Amino acid sequence: MKAVLLDGKSVASKIRNRLKQIVEKEFKSKDIKPGLVAILVGNNPASKIYVGSKVKACEEVGIFSEVIELPENTSENELINLIKELNVNPKFHGILVQQPLPSHISTEMVNENIDFRKDVDGFHPYNLGKLLLGEEGLKPCTPLGIIKLLTEYEINLNGKDVVVIGRSNIVGKPLAVMLMQKWNETNSTVTVCHSSTRDIKKFTASADVVIAAMGKPEFLSSDFIKDGAIVIDVGINRIEDDKTAKGYRIVGDVKFDEISSKASYVTPVPGGVGPMTIAMLLQNTIIACSKFYGININV
Ligand code: GUN
Repeated sequence: MKAVLLDGKSVASKIRNRLKQIVEKEFKSKDIKPGLVAILVGNNPASKIYVGSKVKACEEVGIFSEVIELPENTSENELINLIKELNVNPKFHGILVQQPLPSHISTEMVNENIDFRKDVDGFHPYNLGKLLLGEEGLKPCTPLGIIKLLTEYEINLNGKDVVVIGRSNIVGKPLAVMLMQKWNETNSTVTVCHSSTRDIKKFTASADVVIAAMGKPEFLSSDFIKDGAIVIDVGINRIEDDKTAKGYRIVGDVKFDEISSKASYVTPVPGGVGPMTIAMLLQNTIIACSKFYGININV
């Protein structure tokens, strides 16, 4: 093992402590309780676990939270009517609809119907437009968490060659947009590889930073990267494993053992990007709440 572990678990814990202090100092004294509502449609076991972790983290920092579980056969109309009610419910400053949604519900329609001021996932077209323009708005949690994690380790992305593998609306696309912004924390040269890229290695082999976010278990092997590259693993994949009690284990998109003997920094799975995503969700909820009440906070 040569690489330094980018310990998302401990950085996220530090962030949660800071957010807790903000809630106590800025909100409690004014009798304000930030609130987040999470909507879960269907029975996806992984989604249930993620939403559970999000709600638990809310409690820890003093955010009121509620989970609304809806059956798999909920219609798009029913879901959108619920979102419209929550948009005007003053108890909630953040609304989250866990993805993936059942195939009969349009993710696009759902994202568009959440009040952009409560869009703590940063998926509303208004917030994504603001992001593209490099302007202020709620930003997607996983990309934000990745940049925050690198910043905490004083890894300067300015002028670096960064390759993002994956172009999802949740991670790859917004991350690429953020990395290319002329911000202090970013300002990188960005390449996006995806399922139709003919030769991914051609791009990753010279990259300073490689971010694997394509959802392919243990795809990235050490021959893809240069010596001393920084590797971020966004993948959370369940693979069958008879040797474990649950019958499966969680792996990332990166072959961790071989990558960590060649890279300079690497994120573990679990304990890397995942906890940072949750910390950024809490941060977005606190930002949304502070804007609702016109309170100035410094996150
Ligand atoms: N599914 C996977 N990641 C996310 C996320 O960050 N937000 C939501 N709403 N769903 C997800």
